[in-house]
Amino acid sequence: MSENAIGVFDSGVGGLTVLHELRRLLPGENLVYLGDTARVPYGTKSPETVRKYALQAAEFLIAQRVKMVVVACNTASSFALQLLQQQLSVPVVGVIAPGADRAVRLTAHGVVGVIGTDGTVHSDAYPRALKALQPQVSVVSVACPLFVPLAEEGWAEHEIARLAAEEYLAPLVAAGIDTLVLGCTHYPLLKPTLKAVLPPSIKLVDSAEETALVVQQLLTDRGELNAQQNGCWQFYVTDVPTRFVRVGSGFLGQPVEPVERISLPACPTCSQESPQGRLS
Ligand code: DGL
Repeated sequence: MSENAIGVFDSGVGGLTVLHELRRLLPGENLVYLGDTARVPYGTKSPETVRKYALQAAEFLIAQRVKMVVVACNTASSFALQLLQQQLSVPVVGVIAPGADRAVRLTAHGVVGVIGTDGTVHSDAYPRALKALQPQVSVVSVACPLFVPLAEEGWAEHEIARLAAEEYLAPLVAAGIDTLVLGCTHYPLLKPTLKAVLPPSIKLVDSAEETALVVQQLLTDRGELNAQQNGCWQFYVTDVPTRFVRVGSGFLGQPVEPVERISLPACPTCSQESPQGRLS
């Protein structure tokens, strides 16, 4: 089944928000999802470590003979997309450029907020992508690390999430943003809370939705869209699947199965220096 499939990987369960959008937009596509649950989170790890993990995850998908790879994880997209695009034999799509593209089209005053993990925010990947599209844009970024455990706990709409959102988003509101990029796999689950806390004029950009549109366009351009009606999916994880299955069904809105546990072998290319050189 995986030969004609789209391969998707994330640090864990969060990328299921991207898988959900892919399934909604492209119901005929077979999907192979890898959650690196043994090594989650990526958002607090160094760029070198994230690049190594991302390459191992992507090479596993390539071994399943997928036709393209989607890097659902914002942190992995921030640090490893260029490396993966250089090393892999299939097209690789990340979540940063699609979100940035939508944000510059939505912003009226050119002040865009970005929220994500520590890694994503410190990488400056979103500001770089936004400014490449619209040099005058002003970008204000805030790391919101508590949102990940809150979403996984099923507390995305809990009072605690609202208090955290008020605290995290205050500097963005004070800076006058009119558009906010949800730069982390987990944040789409917090949309109702974010909307309740933000002034109604601020528009939210869901990178997962935008990424699915980019994938659809790419497959159309390459003549590789799957015309069948009912694509199937297969999940792989790198630790015991119990928590992934439980939390994942909340993220996906349906049962997460079949799931297989695998281990990611070290790959020969992983020790290579990044083409971007060393990052802090
Ligand atoms: N998937 C990660 C991201 O989108 C969030 C979870 C983690 O830190 O690994 O950045």
